[in-house]
Amino acid sequence: MKKKVLSVLLVLVMLAGVLTGCSKTSGMNKDKFVKACEKLKLTELEIDEMDEIEENVEDGFYFAGDEDLIADKSKIIDTYLKIAKLSKAFDSDDIVSIAFAAKCAGYDDIKESEGPEDVELDGAFAFQMDFGQKDKAEDVMDGIAKLLKQVNIKTKKLTPKEYYVSKNEGYIRFHIDLEKFARIILDDDDLTDSLKDLYDVDIEDTMEDLKGDIAVSVEIKGSNIFIFAGGAVNSEKKVYKDFVKAFGLATDPMSLPMNEEVADDMTELIVSYAKYISKARDAKKRLTDPIGGTGGTGGTGSTGGTGSTGGTGSTGGNPDNKGIQGSGKVGISMPTKDLMRWAQDGDRMKKELEAMGYTVDLRYAGNQVTVQVQQIQDMIEIGCEVIVVAAIESSSVIQVLENAKAQGVTVIAYDRLIYGTEAVDYYVSFDNYMVGQLQGKYIVEALDLDNANGSFNIEITAGDPTDNNAALFYQGAMDAIKPYIDSGKLKVLSGQKDFKDVATDSWKTDNAQARAENILAAYYPSGTNIDAWLCSNDSTACGVINALDKYYKGNYPVITGQDCDILSVKHIIAGKQAMSVFKDTRTLASQAAKMASQVMNGQKVDVNDTDTYNNGKKDISSYLCSPVFVTVDNYKTILVDSGYYTQDALDY
Ligand code: BGC
Repeated sequence: MKKKVLSVLLVLVMLAGVLTGCSKTSGMNKDKFVKACEKLKLTELEIDEMDEIEENVEDGFYFAGDEDLIADKSKIIDTYLKIAKLSKAFDSDDIVSIAFAAKCAGYDDIKESEGPEDVELDGAFAFQMDFGQKDKAEDVMDGIAKLLKQVNIKTKKLTPKEYYVSKNEGYIRFHIDLEKFARIILDDDDLTDSLKDLYDVDIEDTMEDLKGDIAVSVEIKGSNIFIFAGGAVNSEKKVYKDFVKAFGLATDPMSLPMNEEVADDMTELIVSYAKYISKARDAKKRLTDPIGGTGGTGGTGSTGGTGSTGGTGSTGGNPDNKGIQGSGKVGISMPTKDLMRWAQDGDRMKKELEAMGYTVDLRYAGNQVTVQVQQIQDMIEIGCEVIVVAAIESSSVIQVLENAKAQGVTVIAYDRLIYGTEAVDYYVSFDNYMVGQLQGKYIVEALDLDNANGSFNIEITAGDPTDNNAALFYQGAMDAIKPYIDSGKLKVLSGQKDFKDVATDSWKTDNAQARAENILAAYYPSGTNIDAWLCSNDSTACGVINALDKYYKGNYPVITGQDCDILSVKHIIAGKQAMSVFKDTRTLASQAAKMASQVMNGQKVDVNDTDTYNNGKKDISSYLCSPVFVTVDNYKTILVDSGYYTQDALDY
């Protein structure tokens, strides 16, 4: 708990300090700092009393510590130095002293206030750290500039009074006039609409009533860093001014005029964030609504013979896309390396493109949307002409793809269609609806539902609700089995049939297993057979198999899958899983590599479907490859003879 409080304080200090701007400096060391706190009559807390912060914040408190305290908290401090982009400059071992002070009048009343307009706050905090080395000012300021960039504050837009750096000294100082800032926000219709939509509040009222100022100053002198921040909301600035006086600030950041250019840039960031959140929310809603009720995923209908990988049509190169002619760079953004298939997709594409003479920037995002967005932004910045993206979650990449589009980059959506933006030029995938159909039809055939007597029990496990492919797989499979569920031939004892009830967050084996265990415990007491388990892919099938291995005594049901991951092929050979849909990543990766090179050479891009996949903004010219399914009877021909796997790799 104490650790938590300290970490929160440290990160607040560092981040908030960096959020705004740092005269030449006050040269604050620990002794000077402690004297100021005594002058302000702040209560001194020991590090062990940090959980008393809340009850002391109204009247003010401080703490100060030296190497022992730092050694004790080194891990947390290093983590936050990393977050604050300062770890290049120094680490916790270098730190000689650290001190923190804060006071906030009005704090006790916050809980009772009904809205932001009721809040009356007047406060300030100060932070001091001696990082031991005198020639680090430039590195520290560099870290701070990077952090500022993340909130869209570019140091080149700061005035000399706001930003200065030399070998041993530097500052960033910044003042936000809340009324003016609110006006900039209110002038932005897009933003007010998004905020209204998001928070369902009358944002105009809230903003119009907002009065006050916030100011931050970060100063470095020699080996001392001094961060000071505070201000007042709907209140006098008494505490703030007392702090400025007691600490002897070289320049009060509040005395600087607000930098409107920077405020505009920050607003831009807030706009894209608000849009991102509301789009993400819509997308999630669209995909978690029961299928059938939404019609929103576009192109879920049968693709009717989108056919073989051979018969290609072609469309002209996208006239909107001029490309960054000549860089010869291709970016490949894959969701994660955790699933074998993505690792193979990425490697294959990279090899093929490099063999054609292109430079490839291949990245995996560890299934973290923010990482994927940053990686794509990096690809734009290094001048990639084409970016191939298998999105973790469609709506989160919209903004960055629009940045790409603005730079003339061609975007190819890989495997997963990206919705809600014109910035996607091409889509290359396996026919996702057909994948589901293969799974559903397999169950119909395996249980011989058209001829067999009696009824059969089935359960359903689908994919991640934010991956639009998951809805397509589900729809394809359900179209095949639903008639039998409707007629009573197939029974779902758990009653869980809607997509939102059967979806698996992040496609994770553990999540699928947990749900399967609950289902088995609740609906399949010993003696009740389960005959089929429709699983949308191999990672979810593995979860179901783990649950069955633990809690089920009968024969393995007919379990479907997709990807032909090694473990699942082993399960097929062992009789635990019935089938897996094989989407030969060699075919898909080759096709994507070919399309990328056609774009870069200004050639017509091969596509074989121009009207099935609409991403909510336009029909996306697509190349759809045909999946096949693998069972114990054909895995040797399809997987081993074709050189996809060696037989050795498939042995238990
Ligand atoms: C892919 C599947 C994969 C799943 C989980 C889907 O978008 O099409 O092949 O199993 O994501 O990564």
